Amino acid sequence: METAPSTQRVGMDEISALAKRRGFIFQSSEIYGGLGGFWDYGPLGAVLKRNVKDAWWRDTVELRDDVVAFDSSIVMHPSVWKASGHVDAFHDVMVDCKVCKHRFRLDHLKDRSQCPDCGSKDSLTPPRNFNLMMRTSVGPMEDTSAAAYLRPETAQGIFVNFKNIYQTARKRPPFGVAQIGKSFRNEITPGNFTYRSREFEQAELEYFVPDDGNDMEAFRQWVDRRKAWYAHYGVDSERLRFYELTESERPHYAKAGVDVEYLFPWGWGELESIAHRGTYDLDAHMNLSGKDLRFFDEASKRHYTPLLIESSAGIDRTVLTFLVDACERERSVDPNGKETERIVLRLHPLLAPVQAAVFSLARNKPELVERARGIESALRRSLRTQYDEGNIGQLYRRQDEIGTPFCVTVDYEALADGTVTVRERDSMRQERLGADGLTRYLEEKLER
Ligand code: GAP
Repeated sequence: METAPSTQRVGMDEISALAKRRGFIFQSSEIYGGLGGFWDYGPLGAVLKRNVKDAWWRDTVELRDDVVAFDSSIVMHPSVWKASGHVDAFHDVMVDCKVCKHRFRLDHLKDRSQCPDCGSKDSLTPPRNFNLMMRTSVGPMEDTSAAAYLRPETAQGIFVNFKNIYQTARKRPPFGVAQIGKSFRNEITPGNFTYRSREFEQAELEYFVPDDGNDMEAFRQWVDRRKAWYAHYGVDSERLRFYELTESERPHYAKAGVDVEYLFPWGWGELESIAHRGTYDLDAHMNLSGKDLRFFDEASKRHYTPLLIESSAGIDRTVLTFLVDACERERSVDPNGKETERIVLRLHPLLAPVQAAVFSLARNKPELVERARGIESALRRSLRTQYDEGNIGQLYRRQDEIGTPFCVTVDYEALADGTVTVRERDSMRQERLGADGLTRYLEEKLER
């Protein structure tokens, strides 16, 4: 008798093994032993990451008429980081083990009297500050005058360009500036797969509002919009929370703050921070540069510094969330009473690297191969597709693991009557339909 499938969450080790096996994420420089905190996205991971960025960009920029795009340089004038506070205050407190030489963040230690790696007693050095910015040098001289940093966040590139942006885009507050780009932090203890990396991507929105009493409403609207975004792409609401920071948890200048957190296999972890930062950032750059970055309001003939609502999401953490959240081990009993098990990645169809896979039932039958390849290339115009051939059970298994929502199988009936079998990933239900109507059928199912 057929019974309803039972599902189980999959642990982090298994997810990172799947990510490697199927070409989502590889350790950076693997053939040289890897480099801690750096990752490469493989053929499927690169597409998934691009889809996540596109989904954020579509909702934050393209679907609005009050947000403009930006793309600033990674290396900026060192004064940017002085003004922003990163030179003086962007550090973690760390200790070293004098025996095994390993380094730890003080706030990650449960017991300060013992090294968590080698177990030595009283071997940890006194705590000291460790600045997280990565240094580089600009030009041929490696003296201090050439010292610079790789940006630890993309936001500052927007603040220092505030005037250039609003003047050229002809925007007045309320309006936003969005940017997706790489950031670098010399994390003391990178870990939990890509969760804490030293090179990562951020998607940041800086939304500038007038000081007219509606600023908290704008803050709430962005929190709601981000909630709706995660919900739309199917993140389990039981494992996602929007944590309101208390006054003592917020920086002194911030009027409100919400951390978006996901329940990873090791516990809650931050995906995004949404903050009302007042005039802090523009003020800091005006003070150090001596340049006036205030907005000039033509109507009232008044200069004022707009308030800032920021939403800052980590793309790599969001990709990891989609992988972890979508991945399930499913056990079921087929109509013949046989127990089967599969790993299935229930990615949202707009995020899935492959949206429809087309198979030929046999690889040594030219007429089947030709027909299947023809169907795949026709679908490719509007969907992300893949052609494959061979053992159907193995092909389904592979596509389930990479999150492909639909598989189309071309068998002998396709040659006789022009129909194909379409199998849906989540329910595993199959139906036969005419190959002619396939594109429209899949487009509708995939919400295109
Ligand atoms: N401009 C504000 C800002 O950078 P943040 O809370 O420091 O705020 C925002 O960073 C997001 O960037 C985090 O919520 C996280 O998703 C991502 N992020 C920060 N450090 C990271 C790291 N070491 N590895 C991966 N993602 C990181």
